[in-house]
Amino acid sequence: MNGKQAAALKAVEYIQDGMTVGLGTGSTAYWAIDYTAQRIARGLHITAVATSEDTARIAREKGIVISGIEEVDHIDIDIDGADEADSHLNLIKGGGGALLREKIVAKASRRFIVIADESKLVSTLGKFPLPVEVIPFGWQHTSRHIAALGCTPVLRYKEGRLFVTDSGNYILDCHFHQITDAPRLDIQLNGIAGVVDNGLFINMAERVIIGSADGSVKEWTIDG
Ligand code: A5P
Repeated sequence: MNGKQAAALKAVEYIQDGMTVGLGTGSTAYWAIDYTAQRIARGLHITAVATSEDTARIAREKGIVISGIEEVDHIDIDIDGADEADSHLNLIKGGGGALLREKIVAKASRRFIVIADESKLVSTLGKFPLPVEVIPFGWQHTSRHIAALGCTPVLRYKEGRLFVTDSGNYILDCHFHQITDAPRLDIQLNGIAGVVDNGLFINMAERVIIGSADGSVKEWTIDG
């Protein structure tokens, strides 16, 4: 078991029968989907919503029925990964390009549980380029306004092709190197015309479960 698996296994223990569960996106969330599918095979009943088309496909392949977010009035628990997490439980997400749906699902959830291995822990956010989702129209102008906040935005390509999100938008990976005031930056970015949302998840996580290579886990909550 690696750190990602250990964190995912612990997080899935928080799922109870009858809950509506948000399934995250990425290589860590993959394991939470897998362990959830194993619990379902043993008799757990849940309603599941997905944070991306990739996750919906993976979950279905494992036998999990996926509901549309419009079919549920709330989500009990959302389990998702992160690209960086600081000691305030603020996050950078969106390395996989799913930040918008991930944020909508997390905000609709009563409990947002983040899973990660130790490599994701940072003292200051920003070494990982911050993904910003922008609408295609006029993205070059949007990019200039974002750059004025002190970063170098780079339009995302994947496997040689322009990356388009599940919602039909582009991603600008914004190299800030150090984000000293993440709550302020979040507001500034989302105030720019053309920005749909950004990968800063501020004051959203209830806990961050960190898994280690030896299979042990540590849980960080806002109270310490
Ligand atoms: C997807 O858009 C991201 O937010 C992922 O949740 C995040 O990048 C973590 O992915 P890994 O678990 O693959 O590192």
